[in-house]
Amino acid sequence: MTILTIVGARPQFIKAAVVSHALKEAGIHEMLVHTGQHYDADMSDVFFGELGIPAPAHNLEVGSGSHALQTGAMMTGLERLVEESERPDMIMVYGDTNSTVAAAMVAAKASIPLVHVEAGLRSFNRAMPEEINRIVTDRLSDWLFCPTQTAVDHLAAEGMTEGVIMNGDVMLDATRFFAQRAAEQRPLSSLTDLEPGAYHLATVHRAENTDDPGRLAAIFDTLGKLDSPVLLPLHPRTRQKVASMDLSPSIQILPPVSYLAMLTLISNSRSVLTDSGGLQKETVWLGKPCITMRGETEWTETLEGGWNVLVGASPKAILDAVHTHPQGEPPAFGEAPEGTASGMIADTLKNA
Ligand code: UD1
Repeated sequence: MTILTIVGARPQFIKAAVVSHALKEAGIHEMLVHTGQHYDADMSDVFFGELGIPAPAHNLEVGSGSHALQTGAMMTGLERLVEESERPDMIMVYGDTNSTVAAAMVAAKASIPLVHVEAGLRSFNRAMPEEINRIVTDRLSDWLFCPTQTAVDHLAAEGMTEGVIMNGDVMLDATRFFAQRAAEQRPLSSLTDLEPGAYHLATVHRAENTDDPGRLAAIFDTLGKLDSPVLLPLHPRTRQKVASMDLSPSIQILPPVSYLAMLTLISNSRSVLTDSGGLQKETVWLGKPCITMRGETEWTETLEGGWNVLVGASPKAILDAVHTHPQGEPPAFGEAPEGTASGMIADTLKNA
């Protein structure tokens, strides 16, 4: 059996690191295709090297563009690939990016069984491109691997129960697997002069924040007023938008950092302010408070005890959240019902 796995954006490389390893252990032949959605060395190559991900067999090199241009170019490249050279037994996709939905549509139209890892997530905000990608991909999938019971329930509410498996969160596998290595190989002193607990960590890249100049200015203005310095590894999308802004000197902008560096930066932070999906979970799993600069979250489990707080782009809400401590132990979520989330995917597909 051959599985063709499509990746293209940073969070997908991290998920592929643990799932590809599990597939190999189970004796399943997998080939990776990189769409080229993320193409800067520090958005792509660094993950393959650091996490030991197998080199992609093909790179479609689509690069940036509008949603239609980017998704269309990926579909054209993938369709040609599966029709002319590499017709697999299954196509596997991760998450909710344009690379995910492009591969899902090609698989469905070529009648190739489709596996969606991280199925069933919903923000219930259709203004997010990722929400559209999730809805379409789930609808077309034959195997829907869900990280939580909440995700299973969302699918059931839309009438999807067949092929739905609650396998736990492959990002939890990755966090657990790589946290120790991060502490050893990427100590804080190699990343910043700041001491543990002496900074807030922030990331901003969601279109709803970067594409609204007023919102983006409010966020950066407020980050500049926090009581500790802010380390901000900046996504290229945001870097372009803030290039002309006058930022507070307490905001230290870094280039995008590797996954191990990110785990180290989270583990040593006071709190994490973000609009990322994955980072909300990693922060809570690593026992730090998260402040989410969005109006809603797909990861509602993180909100328990105030470990994650939704603040939108409101300066007052951001400042209040930084000074409020979460209650009790960080919530536990994303556990696999047996073994690991990535192991359950490999076992299920092996016996399919
Ligand atoms: C994408 C995903 C998002 C995911 C995120 C992770 C979609 C719709 N969004 O957003 O779900 O959370 O990846 O990072 O698929 N750029 C570069 N260099 C790069 C990559 C991007 O300069 O290596 C710039 C380009 O100017 C591009 C912009 O960033 O136009 C946005 O990139 P894009 O691929 O559209 O999506 P992301 O914002 O990265």
